Amino acid sequence: MTTVESSPTAAGSGANATEAFRSAQHEAADVSPERISAVVRGVLQGVHGAIREHKVTYPEFQAAKAWLIEVGEGGEWPLFLDVFVEHVVEEVTSEAQQGSKGTILGPYYLPAAKSLPAKATLPMRDDEKGTPLVFAGQVRDIDGTPLGGAEVDIWQADSEGYYSGFAPHLPEGNLRGVVTTDEEGRFEIRTIQPAPYQIPTDGPTGKLITAAGWHPWRPAHLHLIVRAPGHRPITTQLYFQGGEYLESDVAEAVKPELVLDPQDQGDGTVKSTYDFELERA
Ligand code: DHB
Ligand code: FE
Repeated sequence: MTTVESSPTAAGSGANATEAFRSAQHEAADVSPERISAVVRGVLQGVHGAIREHKVTYPEFQAAKAWLIEVGEGGEWPLFLDVFVEHVVEEVTSEAQQGSKGTILGPYYLPAAKSLPAKATLPMRDDEKGTPLVFAGQVRDIDGTPLGGAEVDIWQADSEGYYSGFAPHLPEGNLRGVVTTDEEGRFEIRTIQPAPYQIPTDGPTGKLITAAGWHPWRPAHLHLIVRAPGHRPITTQLYFQGGEYLESDVAEAVKPELVLDPQDQGDGTVKSTYDFELERA
């Protein structure tokens, strides 16, 4: 794997996130005129309500327009929408779902990561920094039947909070893989503990966060999509007990069921276990 030496920027990760979104196979939305009208009217009413409540001025309105243009030109719509909006879409989607809890996908999923066996080490650099982590568990149906041959598609930031494919200094495919469970539905993945993730501060989303006096951080997390034939895939994230920003995730995607409790193995490694339960599709 070759490493390109240059620092990640908002412009780089924003543009890459827009590119990744465009090339992903998103389910077609079949939306009636009535529904478009109702939803868009609701969004506009929310905006009109905020303008009236806060007596928004013309200079503020023009500044908002300039900022919206910048978000588009910087390719930051996936970043902005996945941080500030996706968690509510996930909340309403999950109301009718059974099985393990899901949460937001975020902008940094890439399909077709390396296929790996049930016991595997994620692709990483020879000198990959970070506390070694063993992440193990089982995939089952909600009735308890183990699901052998299930896929645990995992991606994560490195120990500096950067994602391969979106930060040019990282090798392609770093800390990404698709693990297939054994006949008992089990998996054991060796990786490193990710660092908290900071929204790029040099782009329009970061500028807004700074201007509003908010913080730009997400707690450290593993991303997962767990799939098994005949079952509804689960898109989720797992966090680490005691980690920073668990209570103040800028993307509001933490749920208490998704917090791992890593155990020190006495050899510098930590181990976490988590079982996934999938409902039938
Ligand atoms: C964003 C980044 C993430 O790593 C994530 O999990 C969710 C959102 C973002 O920058 O939009
Ligand atoms: Fe993430």
